[in-house]
Amino acid sequence: MSTTRFLTGITTTGTPHLGNFVGSIRPSVTASRTAGVESFYFLADYHALIKCEDPVRIQRSTLEIAASWLAAGLDPERVTFYRQSDIPEIPELTWLLTCVTGKGLLNRAHAYKAAGDKNAAAGRDTDEGVTAGLFMYPVLMGADILMFKAHQVPVGRDQIQHIEMARDMAASFNHLYGEHFVLPEAAIDDHVATLPGLDGRKMSKSYDNTIPLFSARESLRKLIGGILTDSRAPGEPKDVEGSALFQIYQAFATPEETEGLRKAYADGIAWGDAKQLLFERIDQVVAPMRDQYEDLIQHPARIEQILLAGADRARALATPFIRELRSAVGLRSLVQTSEKKAAKASKVALPSFKQYRESDGKFYFKFMSAEGQLLLQSTGFDAPKEAGQRIAQLQQQGTSFLETLGDGRLSLPAEVSPQAVADALAQLRESRENAA
Ligand code: TRP
Repeated sequence: MSTTRFLTGITTTGTPHLGNFVGSIRPSVTASRTAGVESFYFLADYHALIKCEDPVRIQRSTLEIAASWLAAGLDPERVTFYRQSDIPEIPELTWLLTCVTGKGLLNRAHAYKAAGDKNAAAGRDTDEGVTAGLFMYPVLMGADILMFKAHQVPVGRDQIQHIEMARDMAASFNHLYGEHFVLPEAAIDDHVATLPGLDGRKMSKSYDNTIPLFSARESLRKLIGGILTDSRAPGEPKDVEGSALFQIYQAFATPEETEGLRKAYADGIAWGDAKQLLFERIDQVVAPMRDQYEDLIQHPARIEQILLAGADRARALATPFIRELRSAVGLRSLVQTSEKKAAKASKVALPSFKQYRESDGKFYFKFMSAEGQLLLQSTGFDAPKEAGQRIAQLQQQGTSFLETLGDGRLSLPAEVSPQAVADALAQLRESRENAA
């Protein structure tokens, strides 16, 4: 069975919250256990630098995100789990892709355009405060994906454009330099819920409405107490439609439990009781992971070791691949022949050895020029192996082959110069070296 490779990155700028768990961590960990699936998950810390200039925060976020994924059941034996900045081939590939990416394509990236529009609306220069890093964001992401030949890239809808851009980059490169890259696709799971935050808008760090995944039990209770509800009194029927509390509950409960809460809403459950129900349900899911999370956070060296082992596995693929790509674009040793030239050379007729058996039962060979002229003739050998050994010897010798003529097993036709034979042997050897 052929495997499908899934790859996704998590930008290391924040603390994982319940929305990340429901929307990304949980489905990804589940998917990584599916047969026929190969998963690459990584901490996108180079991307983090684009949004965050606080070194302590980047390091802390990397620790927290790695610990969260591991606590949620990610198996680093099954999944190639690594930190982007441990793979130097990624920035190297970024440059190769930069050179085949239209500037116009990057001009159209949503995040870059939004920054420009915001500046324009405020009457500022469109590029004010916009780094080249933000502009290049899609190329770095393209390198993440194309480096590992990912087929499917699980992302949120806001990232679809980036996957399309990665496809464009792959196609341009393949067109110019041959088929090196797999064209990736965005994998959008419609069953995965977008979790509302405390204020009812999408749970997101940028809205400051999140509930951290690994809050201590008491702070989890407090935060849940702060979820926005309406002012309906206990006993009054309540709407599940548009209720953030209900939607969050649904993301953690079974369908039967969700039906139970729907009925309780209709029966006028008090908000305080509904919140208590939600708190207990979330804590039931989180509590077993929480201990492991705390333990990992207390032992960063363990996480570091897991990430470095993941980087080793990732680089076992990246290092030979970047070598292939460098060569494809012409960044190569001066003594290496280009693929094209080698292909052409292989079509050119070459001198050759011909082995045959005569009616005397003995094994002979001759060395012929590309044009079909006889260059060397052997006498008969008792076994084909002996003839073969002699051919191998000639192929290694080059010009010094004349010395071995002395044993009388080979003859040089009168009209052939020793130099012509030496040249033909050299030509043959060179073509084999290029092919190798
Ligand atoms: N840009 C992604 C996000 O913000 C993170 C990311 C970086 C990523 N590189 C990636 C996602 C490669 C998928 C594949 O969510």
